[in-house]
Order: sequence, then C-alpha cells, then structure tokens
Amino acid sequence: MTALDISLTVNGERVTERVEARNTLVDFLREELALTGSHVGCEHGVCGACTVRVNGEIVRGCLMLAVQCDGATVETIEGLSDSGEIADLQAAFEQRNALQCGFCTPGMIAAAQDLLKRGDVPSRDQIREHLSGNYCRCTGYHAIIDAVESVAQQRAKGRSP
Ligand code: FES
Ligand code: FES
Repeated sequence: MTALDISLTVNGERVTERVEARNTLVDFLREELALTGSHVGCEHGVCGACTVRVNGEIVRGCLMLAVQCDGATVETIEGLSDSGEIADLQAAFEQRNALQCGFCTPGMIAAAQDLLKRGDVPSRDQIREHLSGNYCRCTGYHAIIDAVESVAQQRAKGRSP
C-alpha cells in the first residue's frame, strides 16, 4: 500500500493529509474531511452524484484520485453553499420540487452552476445537455430543468441595467 502526502485547498482552507495512492477524490473528501455532500453512486463516472469542482472545472470525484489533487483548489457542494454562490439554485430547487430523495442534488446543482456561471441564458435543450451526465432516479427531470431555467432568467435580469 503506497501512501503519499498531499496539500490542497478545499473550500478555501489549506489541507495537508497523507492519502493512499488508490483513494478517489470523493472518498477522500467524504472519509478524511467529512464533506459528505458529495455522494457516491455508480463509482464509475456515470451518475454524476460525486461532481465537485477542481481548479474551477467540474469533475467526477469517483474518477479522480486524491493524489491527483495535490496543489489543486477543490470546491465541494458545502463550499459552494457556504459562499452563497448557489443560493438561488438551492432556493429554486426547493420551490419547484426539483428534488425528492436529494441524492443527486449536490451533483446536479454543481453541474447547473457550471453552466450558469458562463453568464448566458441557456435554452432548455442546452440545460438538458449539460445535465445529461447527472442521473436522478426520482424527479423525471422536468422540475430540475424548470429550476435551472428560472435561475438563468433571474440572473440575466439581475445583470441587465
Ligand atoms: S459516483 Fe461518480 S459518477 Fe457516479
Ligand atoms: S432526487 Fe432522488 S435521485 Fe434525484
């Protein structure tokens, strides 16, 4: 068993830990840092439940090794929530019943924010396409698309003079 020391920034805090080389990023976040908002579903890159942001880009935490994040900046759903960056998405998901069990929701919101932070108002098809790698077993997706679309429109209104 090989263990390596890594240093990274997680949700704005510097973290230095010894990790096993085979540990995935999502397991590291959940088990070593107790950041359990990132979920583990399929464990092979299909469901999107483990979506987190690394150096500003969303990744599948189950397909990335923790050691690959040495020196990186990682943001989880906890960090996105604490900063207020996704407060409108969280409110819209709640208002529009875009979640039931909530298992997919952290990954879904992280992926939605990845699309919306580009600043355009995406079409429903573009929203569907961007979220197509995030599976939900409960909602049938319409409410999720509605929620993301409504936030895109609200943000655009907020930007207009
Ligand atoms: S747990 Fe990572 S994509 Fe499903
Ligand atoms: S709300 Fe249950 S999996 Fe999406």
